[in-house]
Amino acid sequence: MKPLLFIETYGCQMNFADSEILASILQDRYDTTQDGMEADLILVNTCSIRDHAEQRVLNRLKEFASLKKRRPSLKVGLVGCMAERLKEQLLESDLDIDLVVGPDAYRSLPSLLDEVQAGRKGMDVLLSESETYQEIQPVRLDSNHVSAFIPIMRGCQNFCAYCVVPYTRGKERSRDARTIVKEAESLFARGYKEVTLLGQNVNSYKAGDLDFAGLMRLVAEVDPALRVRFSTSHPKDLSDALIDVMAAYPNICKNIHLPVQSGSSAMLARMKRKYDRAWYLERVAALRARIPDCGISTDIIAGFCGETEQDHEQTLSLMREVGYDFAFMFKYSDRPGTFAHKNYVDDVPDEVKSRRLNEIIDLQQQLSLQSNRRDVGKTFDILVEGVSKKDKHRFFGRNSQNKVVVFDNPLLPDGRFKVRVGDYVKTGVGDCTAATLLGTLVG
Ligand code: 5AD
Ligand code: SF4
Repeated sequence: MKPLLFIETYGCQMNFADSEILASILQDRYDTTQDGMEADLILVNTCSIRDHAEQRVLNRLKEFASLKKRRPSLKVGLVGCMAERLKEQLLESDLDIDLVVGPDAYRSLPSLLDEVQAGRKGMDVLLSESETYQEIQPVRLDSNHVSAFIPIMRGCQNFCAYCVVPYTRGKERSRDARTIVKEAESLFARGYKEVTLLGQNVNSYKAGDLDFAGLMRLVAEVDPALRVRFSTSHPKDLSDALIDVMAAYPNICKNIHLPVQSGSSAMLARMKRKYDRAWYLERVAALRARIPDCGISTDIIAGFCGETEQDHEQTLSLMREVGYDFAFMFKYSDRPGTFAHKNYVDDVPDEVKSRRLNEIIDLQQQLSLQSNRRDVGKTFDILVEGVSKKDKHRFFGRNSQNKVVVFDNPLLPDGRFKVRVGDYVKTGVGDCTAATLLGTLVG
């Protein structure tokens, strides 16, 4: 019996994909468990994007520190963006952490664990210009065996003024296309039906002469029954070529996550986003012209440095103009080391940030409901992903636009359900909430 590893993951999809790489690097030494209480090694894969995300992890580490008092053999490691940002400060804190490893140093985990077993602390926070973990076959954690993430690039060098990611994840680098296609083929052969290509900014994927549109074409051609999604796209380089590829392949999902951050050109310039409101709206118009039913989601920051009421109104008006299907919405959080931290004043009072954020959330709630209401009466092909937590006769899946459709799954006389997880089925939408479409099986 191998000792047990528990990985607790916070933050973005890339972190969840990295945890699968961590599990793979350690699979000769550890089996994974879903239960932290029985683990011999706990790795916390962390996010630094907002202060709140870091505070949550620090509180969790206090719980693990008290667990260690009861179980002295337990080892705790902190990996990911917080490891990169805080480095030795973490080892010197009273959190009793054994191991600190940054996002580009996961291959050194086995040797660092040897150090830890010998009673020392282990740390590696070197960033790399070439590491992509490209030949590592991830251990699929917590998987429904239907959809999987495939990281296609790492790092970011856009240096948006508010963002800590370029400092914690280093320079942009792309993974070799053959290894990406091979991973998609292997997943499909094992029964997976959907892959999501991941990167901080997938549109700047570049491997030799191959750009992101070219890569999408290669992955889409793996099999027409393999759905392909991607995230995240930076609006500044959303190309017509990508829109054309999305339109050309039925198995490329008609959905794009296109973070706008603000609707005010003045704010976008201060944020160093490298596009303005008009550019963004033109890109949305180009998408809608080629793919009228494309789902569009976004990220929005409320209360960035210097944001006026007029700037905020412009964000609300842009949201209405685009009519987003979904949004992630945040209060601006000042991050040490960023351009904004060094050069601007975090001058929007917290209660104003909260009020603006609430207005943004309320508006998005209405927009999501409107978007879902437009789908009532339509029929969608969905990929069945799981069983509803509340009612085991209700299953759910997503349509191409990334909307969740919940439906009743009849039990057949032989005791099996009519459709199974991993099936493609047609559902007719009869009703909706702001969050889900309520469907019935058709045919
Ligand atoms: N404060 C608030 N939100 C932030 N994001 C990135 N940095 C910050 C910050 N300092 C948001 C952006 C980005 C998403 C991943 O997180 O909207 O698109
Ligand atoms: Fe952060 Fe901007 Fe890079 Fe996204 S594109 S990770 S917001 S710096």
